[in-house]
Amino acid sequence: MEYRGPLRVRLEQKPMPVIQHPLDAIVRVTRSCICGSDLHLYNGEVPDTRVGMTFGHEFCGIVEEIGPEVQNLSVGDHVLVPFNIACGRCHFCKQGLFGNCHEANAQATAVGGIFGYSHTAGGYDGGQAEYVRVPYADVGPTVIPSWMDPDDAVLLTDVVPTGYQAAEMGGIQPGDTVVVFGAGPVGIMAARCAWFFGAGRVIVIDHLDYRLEFIRDYAPAEVYNFNEMDDPVVFLKKATDSLGADVCIDAVGGDASGNRLHAVFGKKLKLEAGSPIALHWAINSVKKGGVVSIVGVYGPTGNMVPIGNVVNKGITIRSNQASVKRLLPRLIEHVEAGRLNPKAIITHRAPLEDVSDLYHIFSSKLDGCIKPVLVPRH
Ligand SMILES: NC(=O)c1ccc[n+]([C@@H]2O[C@H](COP(=O)([O-])OP(=O)(O)OC[C@H]3O[C@@H](n4cnc5c(N)ncnc54)[C@H](O)[C@@H]3O)[C@@H](O)[C@H]2O)c1
Ligand SMILES: [Zn+2]
Ligand SMILES: [Zn+2]
Repeated sequence: MEYRGPLRVRLEQKPMPVIQHPLDAIVRVTRSCICGSDLHLYNGEVPDTRVGMTFGHEFCGIVEEIGPEVQNLSVGDHVLVPFNIACGRCHFCKQGLFGNCHEANAQATAVGGIFGYSHTAGGYDGGQAEYVRVPYADVGPTVIPSWMDPDDAVLLTDVVPTGYQAAEMGGIQPGDTVVVFGAGPVGIMAARCAWFFGAGRVIVIDHLDYRLEFIRDYAPAEVYNFNEMDDPVVFLKKATDSLGADVCIDAVGGDASGNRLHAVFGKKLKLEAGSPIALHWAINSVKKGGVVSIVGVYGPTGNMVPIGNVVNKGITIRSNQASVKRLLPRLIEHVEAGRLNPKAIITHRAPLEDVSDLYHIFSSKLDGCIKPVLVPRH
């Protein structure tokens, strides 16, 4: 596929990717998901998203070719490929900050490299394609265990580790009340994983009833529709003995609904980087001394965020792109043990030719869509 400008993606025949560096591999894609993060690109909100780019940072496939210096992979291996492109040896990779690799995206001071995620994230073509070039192939790609369903594997490239890291960054203590904003794939995984860290109560806020119904059983969680509240912050305070939640997780990011001012200011006029309303709610409904964990993605330019409340309440804010590689071993264990069933969130599956329809369905939240998967016909 390729990007043609805001709200336009289409199938396009592109040249076969080639090995450009001795550490590259070429992967034949067998599955590739569309992510909430792709919607920021699709909506034209990410700077330097160039027409002609192939999106797709959640994919798995079969190693087709390897560069002469690749040692950890062989042709024919079935691999899942973390969304972060990381060199494995820079200052940041050495600390396990694979989402902040300095070498894969040396132009940027913040995010590292990400497949199919604009030139802000390195300008690498992504995996919503038949074939993809995978740099630093010894680092990210992980051989899929033979017992694992490929539908589970493809979700381990992003949404499962991101949800898990959201819960981890929350520093959840046994018995804590955790509020997750957003019942998309990332919020679903964050709510599920919050229990692994000992949460005593998990509450999820969204405005899409079909997603709330899913997450209620899957996480499980108490679920509330913010359209049915006068003020979500007051509602959450009342629901938590007037103290506020111990941990709030923002699994929404800059495409948030729920506030007209920010919608006009951030989404229409682009005077801030999208709408930070879910983050406002998180900051204002966490208890004093609590933790706000942000995995929702915001553009790199300014946002109107209530930083005064962060200071006055003594809130700890933690955030990052997920460090997929660091988390994979324990997440593979959770899947093997049956504690995590990632593929249950897949609602739509279509051939690559239907990419523009699938973007439309996922973006407009039609047809009960939670997670769509593209399957190239080889
Ligand atoms: N940090 C990372 O590594 C990382 C990785 C993957 C995705 N993300 C980000 O996580 C976010 C969620 O991803 P997703 O795939 O679940 O996306 P999604 O678009 O499927 O889900 C977002 C959900 O938030 C809901 N929502 C909108 N406004 C809200 C509000 N004010 N309060 C509560 N809920 C609201 C939507 O109805 C939707 O269900 C996106 O911003 C995405 O870019 C981050
Ligand atoms: Zn993603
Ligand atoms: Zn690095």
